[in-house]
Amino acid sequence: MFFVFSSPEALARHLSLQLLQLIQKKPTAILGLATGSTMEPVYHNLCKLIHDHQTPLGQLTTFNLDEYVGLAPEHPQSYNYYMHQHLFNPAGFDDSRCFLPRGICADMQRECKEYSEKIQACGGLDFQLLGIGTNGHIGFNEPYTPFDSLTHIVELSENTRIDNGRFFDNWDDVPTHAVTMGIKDIMGAKEIVLAATGAHKAEVMAQLFQSSVDEAMPASILKTHPCIRIYVDEQAAALIPAEQLTKID
Ligand code: F6R
Repeated sequence: MFFVFSSPEALARHLSLQLLQLIQKKPTAILGLATGSTMEPVYHNLCKLIHDHQTPLGQLTTFNLDEYVGLAPEHPQSYNYYMHQHLFNPAGFDDSRCFLPRGICADMQRECKEYSEKIQACGGLDFQLLGIGTNGHIGFNEPYTPFDSLTHIVELSENTRIDNGRFFDNWDDVPTHAVTMGIKDIMGAKEIVLAATGAHKAEVMAQLFQSSVDEAMPASILKTHPCIRIYVDEQAAALIPAEQLTKID
């Protein structure tokens, strides 16, 4: 379940190639996508691979995990902006098939309900890409989020606001709430890869490794998924017993 790579770049190369192969094999795939620093080299590599292989993307559909409440799509720290900057625009995705929950809309409850329904109406996710927060969150499902949750509004924990505050000029600008796909939506994906890189993720990866399936550690539910792979670089793997890790390169 735990695969270790020599560096974040090696992990990104492997994961982006895996995504390319999935898109080539199933051009109509439904992808669940994540944002964050971990994904930046993955998307950078994927854009290059898509160009090099001239991969058609016209039938691909994507659903992002989350968005900050209160940020418009054109806000530079919104996840909508991030996705267009790092993947959708440079790779040439069809914008009309790329979905993110909206951070601003008249009826947020309805937005949440319809987001989960839309994933189901498309036939469910073929593949879900995940990062992990230093508190074990997946998407923005913070500790103690019910495992049967669908898309919902979440109040961000202090820990998450501090972690993500690095992208904002002032503490007061750091959003307090987000809309996130629920854990049940994520677990509905046919295949899941969670990626974590860097020394700052070593502790949470060790906690995840040791944890029983417990809502206190949201990512622990992944241990019950039939097709889960957890990718870590050597720094993020530092506190996991070496014999439990499959080395890729
Ligand atoms: C982002 C998301 C989050 C991040 C996590 C790790 O869409 O769903 O769960 O994956 O916070 O973020 P980074 O990669 O910035 O450490």
